[in-house]
Amino acid sequence: MNHGTFAARKVEEIRRTVRNGKVISALSGGIDSSVATVLGHRALGKNLQVIFIDDGLMRGGESAQVKATFRKLGITVKVINARKNFFAALRGLTDPEEKRKAFRDAFYRTFKKAVKASGAQFLLQGTIAPDIIETKKAVKTQHNVLEQIGIDAKKGYGFIALEPLKTLFKPDVRKVGKILGLPAKVYQRMPFPGPGLLCRCLGEATPARIEIVRKACRIVEEETRTFKPFQAFGVLLSDRATGLTPQGGRHFGNIIAVRCVESNDAMTAKATRLPWKTLERIRDRILKAIPAVTKVVYDITPKPPSTIEYI
Ligand code: XMP
Repeated sequence: MNHGTFAARKVEEIRRTVRNGKVISALSGGIDSSVATVLGHRALGKNLQVIFIDDGLMRGGESAQVKATFRKLGITVKVINARKNFFAALRGLTDPEEKRKAFRDAFYRTFKKAVKASGAQFLLQGTIAPDIIETKKAVKTQHNVLEQIGIDAKKGYGFIALEPLKTLFKPDVRKVGKILGLPAKVYQRMPFPGPGLLCRCLGEATPARIEIVRKACRIVEEETRTFKPFQAFGVLLSDRATGLTPQGGRHFGNIIAVRCVESNDAMTAKATRLPWKTLERIRDRILKAIPAVTKVVYDITPKPPSTIEYI
């Protein structure tokens, strides 16, 4: 495919669909929504309002970083702090699909409010082909897929979804991002799931447990950076394991699984053969930074039969 022609066609399509209407872009800072946002901005200029929802499930410092990156592109990003709403929606939930559903509902309820307040008729989002394929195959319902699971966005949330990237896989999304002038640190970035750290937290997602995941993810990302994996992160399991306190007592603590995978389009993946030294450094840093952790394990399962994330 010619990525420049694709981008020009999508800009034209967005313009033709929206006409004089208003659009809100759901920006998460990930590659897909970043590319969709730049396409929308090219098509609509100030008739596109860009919103970043701070749901409390993002990586550390994410909202400031996203704002700064897009400011440089001449795009203003409005941050909505909805952390309380998301954690309230997730309270007490442990089943993966229930957690995903609660996240999706909180996500679109937040946008419904923003869309209503702005008078917009459309929501622009970065849905890509695997999101739809895996939702249809019932692997799991991706947070941004509505129509395919029978949800009418207009009826349920009051907007029409615009999905300019829904036919693309990740490598092509990256190429379109490059052509649109996004910085390499955005289009080369590791994919990060819409529901964020929720996908890496088994059991209940409380602010304290999510903070453990955030710390583990940062350490794994930093220590694996030189290997340029497709994705690398830490996961907090819901079970516990016995460890020893410095005084030699018993301590029933948390378990962190380390995930680092090679993939092209996220449809299949295999575990990276990380050097033992790197794994030891990750283990040491996690044990030091998160005293509640008593075990660190490395996940070597390929996709399939596993998936990349844990919920
Ligand atoms: P899995 O875990 O299904 O993930 O092998 C495949 C790719 O999709 C990302 N992922 C998501 N992205 N919304 C997203 O935008 C989601 O609900 C979601 N769940 C998983 C995951 O990080 C991987 O790159």
